[in-house]
Amino acid sequence: MSVRAGASALPARPEPTCTCVVGLQWGDEAKGKLVDILGDQHDFVVRYNGGANAGHTIVWGDRKFKLSLLPAGVLKPHLKSVIGNGVVVYPPRFLEEVEQLRAAGIEVGSNLTLSDRAHVIFPHHLEEERLSESGGEGAIGTTGRGIGPCYQDKVGRVCGVRVGDLLRPEALRERLRFIVPRKNRLLGALADGRESRTFDADQVCDEYLALGEKLRPHVVDTTHLLLRGLGDGKRILFEAAQGTLLDIDHGTYPYVTSSSSSPAGIWPGSGVPAHRVGRILGVVKAYSTRVGRGPFPTELSDGPDGLGERIRKTGREYGTVTGRPRRVGWLDIVATRYTAALAGADEIAIMLLDVLSCVNELSICTGYEIDGRRVAEFPADAYSLDRVKPVYESHAGWGGVDVTGAQKLSDLPDAARRYLDRIQQLLGLPIRVVSIGPDREQTIFI
Ligand code: IMP
Repeated sequence: MSVRAGASALPARPEPTCTCVVGLQWGDEAKGKLVDILGDQHDFVVRYNGGANAGHTIVWGDRKFKLSLLPAGVLKPHLKSVIGNGVVVYPPRFLEEVEQLRAAGIEVGSNLTLSDRAHVIFPHHLEEERLSESGGEGAIGTTGRGIGPCYQDKVGRVCGVRVGDLLRPEALRERLRFIVPRKNRLLGALADGRESRTFDADQVCDEYLALGEKLRPHVVDTTHLLLRGLGDGKRILFEAAQGTLLDIDHGTYPYVTSSSSSPAGIWPGSGVPAHRVGRILGVVKAYSTRVGRGPFPTELSDGPDGLGERIRKTGREYGTVTGRPRRVGWLDIVATRYTAALAGADEIAIMLLDVLSCVNELSICTGYEIDGRRVAEFPADAYSLDRVKPVYESHAGWGGVDVTGAQKLSDLPDAARRYLDRIQQLLGLPIRVVSIGPDREQTIFI
């Protein structure tokens, strides 16, 4: 083989055949519905981050599915659903969700694969999180699903266990006999006089070996599976869990989740190179919500009779995983412009527009002031964000008009169309989808 000099010696890059659906706020933007709809145009649906802390609700007519760990694509047995190496897996939850789907008549078999490199959540992770989160100061307001402690162990390497390890009995026993006593000592220190659980390495090992056997039919090297798929021209849909403002590096640290919830997580979390993702759909709720602690500049803290409570009730804004009431606020363009740029969003989906029928006047946050000075860019630290004073513009609402039956944009009231136009103008990105209800039929494509 001869190598010629010059650019022509480089082969052309393959066409990007992957799409990512990503939330541009603090999660709960109703991404599950879009993954369900877009899944039909793809061969694989892949989760690359997070664990059972996500809450995806998918509504098909009078059927409702709630998933926290499995990709939304699993509802369609003809698609290959993949839990990538970047996800952290609590095996009992995985098996529970599979069973729930089977009980609902959804076929789950070889269509669902789980990376042998995904990290495993153990009961000591749940206990570690419980002790840290119940200590008052330093609490993040997590979902309590063991996510942070498991990622800590993954990155720390000393105490991490991967799904593939559950299939190697002797190696797992040896490893847990090292890890569990260490964890017991740590739990004792964290408890600091409070009551805490301790664990027996052999008991945990027996339990997890049994779980591993149940997982075995799903466990594969998903990195190779996806790379082979790409080589065969297959199309992959990436389903980001949480939202970009909860990204470990780019979100409102430390009030974030422990993974890369922006599309930056695709490459490390699945093995698929970033340049294979040609389309990024940024998902934005028509207002803002956040669960857990942390700065939220546009929060409506106006009490039990205020607009925040009205939107929360109308939008049923209670956490899918924990049932906690979500904090509610106005749409924040400064934050969304930042996350759209960071995520590389090409287009936008506006979700839950119907919920805003419950208010007569709307506000959009178009700028920030910190200590009396106008700030153009979203500050990366919680300290500055806490001091932000949002600058709002007001818009007439379409109070009382039910928009849930709209089939096309022109069916929406003028005020709703003006609200959408303004968002599009402020973000500088085209709105391609408007969702006006939970059912997949209640979706306007533009
Ligand atoms: P963790 O992911 O359980 O560690 O929680 C860290 C923060 O992320 C907390 O504020 C959680 O409420 C939030 N969080 C985690 N997953 C989701 C989600 O899927 N939607 C919204 N917030 C989430």
